[in-house]
Amino acid sequence: MKSMKAVRIHKYGGPDVLTYEDAPRPEPKEDELLIRVHAAGVNPADWQIRFGRRFVLEEPFSLILGFDVSGIVEAVGSSVADFKTGDAVYGMMPILQGGAYAEYVTSPATGVAHKPSCLDHIQAAAMPVVSLTAWQALFEAGELSAGQRVLIHAAAGGVGHIAVQLAKWKGAHVIGTASARNEDFLREIGCDEITDYTTTRFEDVVADVDMVLDSVVRDVSAATDAVAGETLQRSWGVLKKNGILVSICATPSSETAAAYGVRCKQILADPNGAQLAEIAKLVDAGHVKPTINTVLPLKQAAKAHELSQGGHTRGKIVLQVAE
Ligand SMILES: NC(=O)c1ccc[n+]([C@@H]2O[C@H](COP(=O)([O-])OP(=O)(O)OC[C@H]3O[C@@H](n4cnc5c(N)ncnc54)[C@H](OP(=O)(O)O)[C@@H]3O)[C@@H](O)[C@H]2O)c1
Repeated sequence: MKSMKAVRIHKYGGPDVLTYEDAPRPEPKEDELLIRVHAAGVNPADWQIRFGRRFVLEEPFSLILGFDVSGIVEAVGSSVADFKTGDAVYGMMPILQGGAYAEYVTSPATGVAHKPSCLDHIQAAAMPVVSLTAWQALFEAGELSAGQRVLIHAAAGGVGHIAVQLAKWKGAHVIGTASARNEDFLREIGCDEITDYTTTRFEDVVADVDMVLDSVVRDVSAATDAVAGETLQRSWGVLKKNGILVSICATPSSETAAAYGVRCKQILADPNGAQLAEIAKLVDAGHVKPTINTVLPLKQAAKAHELSQGGHTRGKIVLQVAE
């Protein structure tokens, strides 16, 4: 069996359990692609899993983390029609699989699309999870439409900064929360109103919104993402009657929603190559662009996790796997 370099965990724990080592190179099944990874995006789910505080993957040990990939198709399964060897692709790995912190990864072809041509692999690897999450939260769960008002929490974060641009493209009025150091950044990417959550209670200055997107990353010490955070609890009152709160971090209470005369949903992003193809068109048309906070070599995945766990990333952290 061929081998490759990968970052694996052999037990749950802190960043020190991430081990850069040789691992077996995966083989694509008939509906899969084998991708030579150029870059892998880092998401809070990676360190939440590493801590043992998120869904348990199919093979916990040894486990290769990583859901975001950009790279080149190395081999295609026998039933794959839409891709060929040598294609530049970006995609989201299945939730119960991961595997992108490695030189090679296999993925169902349905979770992958051709890479936006105006992005390099580092930028493209920043996109899949956060853009699919934002798309599915705003447009599927929230049915956001032109002219509506949306409050996006953690607007400068990975999900938030793409959600702001997608909502703006849709024609919504976008209100974002962040600390003051991100104010200029949020204006540049299209926020119409910004609330500095460190000095102002957003519920004192924001009202009558059609949709709230709760995307505030939980503290590392939180036992699970599923505990509704303080930001979510304070968000009910800013919604219009029949407005909707969509959380990507916690399970909102339907009883509380009913008491406020509003609706709520929780979503878990799904890999979706067709949506990534739509998003690639928006990127290439200049409507959406990822911001890269930090690029680190694959070997330094532990440092990348420490940075992400700090909870104040602007845009995305990406691991460079190949030159
Ligand atoms: N359900 C799903 O499918 C799904 C998908 C992706 C992500 N998620 C979850 O969504 C959360 C966010 O993910 P992410 O990748 O966007 O995280 P991230 O990039 O690490 O978020 C960092 C951002 O959060 C902001 N922030 C921190 N505390 C805040 C607060 N109280 N109010 C407003 N902004 C605050 C920071 O802004 P400042 O620096 O200005 O403080 C920073 O820009 C995570 O819990 C992740 O696990 C879920």
